[in-house]
Amino acid sequence: MSRRFASLALLIGLAAPTSAYAVEISISCSALGQEYEICKQGVDAWSKKTGNTAKIVSTPNSATERLALYQQLLAAGAGDIDVFQIDVVWSGMLSQHFQDLTAKAQGVIDQHFPTMIETSRVKGKLVAMPWFADAGLLYYRKDLLQKHNRPVPQTWSDLTETARTVQAAERQGGSRDLWGFVWQGRAYEGLTVNALEWVSSHNGGTIVDEKGEITINNPKAAAALKTAAGWVGTITPEGVLNYTEEESRGVFQAGNAVFMRNWPYAWALAQGPESAIKDKVGIAPLPKGGADGRNAGTLGGQLLAVSRYSKNAEAATDLVMYLTSADEQKRRAIAGSFNPTIPTLFKDAEITKANPFMGDLLTVFTNAVARPAAATGDNYNKVSTEFFDTVHQVLSKRAEPEQALSRLDRDLKRIKRSGWQ
Ligand code: GLC
Repeated sequence: MSRRFASLALLIGLAAPTSAYAVEISISCSALGQEYEICKQGVDAWSKKTGNTAKIVSTPNSATERLALYQQLLAAGAGDIDVFQIDVVWSGMLSQHFQDLTAKAQGVIDQHFPTMIETSRVKGKLVAMPWFADAGLLYYRKDLLQKHNRPVPQTWSDLTETARTVQAAERQGGSRDLWGFVWQGRAYEGLTVNALEWVSSHNGGTIVDEKGEITINNPKAAAALKTAAGWVGTITPEGVLNYTEEESRGVFQAGNAVFMRNWPYAWALAQGPESAIKDKVGIAPLPKGGADGRNAGTLGGQLLAVSRYSKNAEAATDLVMYLTSADEQKRRAIAGSFNPTIPTLFKDAEITKANPFMGDLLTVFTNAVARPAAATGDNYNKVSTEFFDTVHQVLSKRAEPEQALSRLDRDLKRIKRSGWQ
């Protein structure tokens, strides 16, 4: 460009089109652990690059409460939030409120895991871009297992036994606040996730199968729930009935539990400067239901979607493409142990150095168990709510597993009569 043309272009704003048309948009981010901070760093980098700005709206930690908030905002057609962080199980239920990103994602979308692409695409429309993948993991205290000469548990009964023994010995030794096993037992989506892991590790199915058949009323599922109910008040504090991810992480990270079930994000925090258990933690697949059971971690994760009611859809889409790009996923994996949704990143040496489990436990992620969101469509939240309420009753000893599951079967059939999709 000649100098004369350059100064002319500058004068009429051609050289800096983005700042000349800079807009402000807003994005909803979860605030679980360091999620808010790490989201903000990504958004700030995008702002710096484009000249646009983005306000961050933080949302409730409970997935179920967050969904209710989104449903309210979207049903009112509110344009207040341009970019929504959504759960992998919500794309079907919320699809009508989001823009189709197919054209913008061309050449990029195929880089992602096929399962993540499937959850992002609803009836041919790409309603969101994959942002990070989750799968349930077993966190354990390496130091305590070593001290008590116990291997990493392979089955739930191994875990129960080890948790009981270590808890008793440590309490006797003066660690009065120590518990064996913490997880997510509040009546919300996280309990559906935990209970699906117990049930499917016992080969008890996935509540509703891929064809839409209700399968939950079976003896293996009942046995799984019975085992879990036995933990409450023995190796697990009663308070677990009100725990989400963060409450269980709080107990574990303070050094007060031998085992914890949680998502990958808890790793970066457990290894962080403020952690009481830094360098004392190992990660393994969740235990099997028995000798003939299987390791089952529920598939979770988050996507980014652009609201149909956004007044700045172009900038909003640009932000989504930036945040879901390989570079940004790499930064988030290193800073916050968020699993990328791009398989090639699992071979990245910096990522696996920061998160050894991502390389070692790749099969946990590739074989993760999906919740029946695709099979139940618009009714997924109803199905999940019936399921977690039932499980919560069993855990709080208000119902026996067999009766509770047969009642659940009847209630799910009633919902199914109105049609799954
Ligand atoms: C995590 C997962 C999500 C799941 C939720 C349950 O946010 O990414 O898929 O539904 O936890 O609490």
